[in-house]
This record gives sequence, C-alpha cells and structure tokens, in this order.
Amino acid sequence: MPRYEKIWMIFGFASLILFLAILGIMAAFMGLNPPDSLRTTVAPEKVETAPPFDQPGVYQIGPKEYRVVMLSYVFGYNPGTITIPQGSTVHFEATSRDVIHGVYVPGTNINLMLIPGHITEFTQTFNKPGEYLYLCHEYCGVGHHLMQGRIIVEPSTT
Ligand code: CUA
Repeated sequence: MPRYEKIWMIFGFASLILFLAILGIMAAFMGLNPPDSLRTTVAPEKVETAPPFDQPGVYQIGPKEYRVVMLSYVFGYNPGTITIPQGSTVHFEATSRDVIHGVYVPGTNINLMLIPGHITEFTQTFNKPGEYLYLCHEYCGVGHHLMQGRIIVEPSTT
C-alpha cells in the first residue's frame, strides 16, 4: 500500500473514532436532553392513567387563561380541537403516548416536540380570531401526514 494512502486511512479512521467518542461523551455525561426534561417528566407506561394526562382537555384557569393538557398518539391528538375566545393565553402541557410527535402551528411561535416520558410546556396568546391548524412535524409513521388538530379562536364581542 502506498505510504500516503496509509497515512490518510489512519487519519480518516482516527477522526471517526474521535467524533464518535465526542458524541458518546456528550450523550452520556453532558445532559443532552430535551429542555426542562428533568423537571417535567412522566412515566410513559402510566401516561394514560396518571394525572394530568388521564384527562386531556382544555381547562379554564382564569379570565382568558386556559390550560391545555394534550396527549398525542399515532395518529392524532387529544384534544383534537381547542376552542378559546380571542385574546386568550394558553398554557400547553403535552406529551406522547407512543413515539415522537410534534406540534407545529403555522403563523405562530408554536413548534413543539413531544417525546414519550417528557412533558413539553409552552405558553401562547391568541389575539387574532380564526382557525389555526396544528400539524405533526416529526415523522411518526404511515399516518403522519394525517395527524392534525385545530385551534379555534372565537372573535370576542367585548
Ligand atoms: Cu405524529 Cu408525525
């Protein structure tokens, strides 16, 4: 084998080992986890029997303030429709029952990743009335493209 070829092979192999080692160290020791995951976890096998995800839904917690407890699954969301009055602030708490899903609402800042065992939290205020589609944007199987829900923001009369 020519000398240069040997040098380049050793170099290539060594850099591969180096990068894999860096990846391994980061994953194992540097806490490479979803944001906030240490505080907000849920046992995946109990997700449907323990609060809050045993009762997914939309809960009013104050004037124009709502809490949405959302469970995602292949291929849908519970709740699949969220109806709130204009100007409402919504605190989302969401997770997945099975595989990784997403919640993406075009035109807003909502772009969530739902990971089994982790609770994803997000707060959003809806000032513009209308119908907002939310979509799964993490590929999750054959029905991925069908996975969606709606947020209906009703015009306020006051
Ligand atoms: Cu759920 Cu894609």
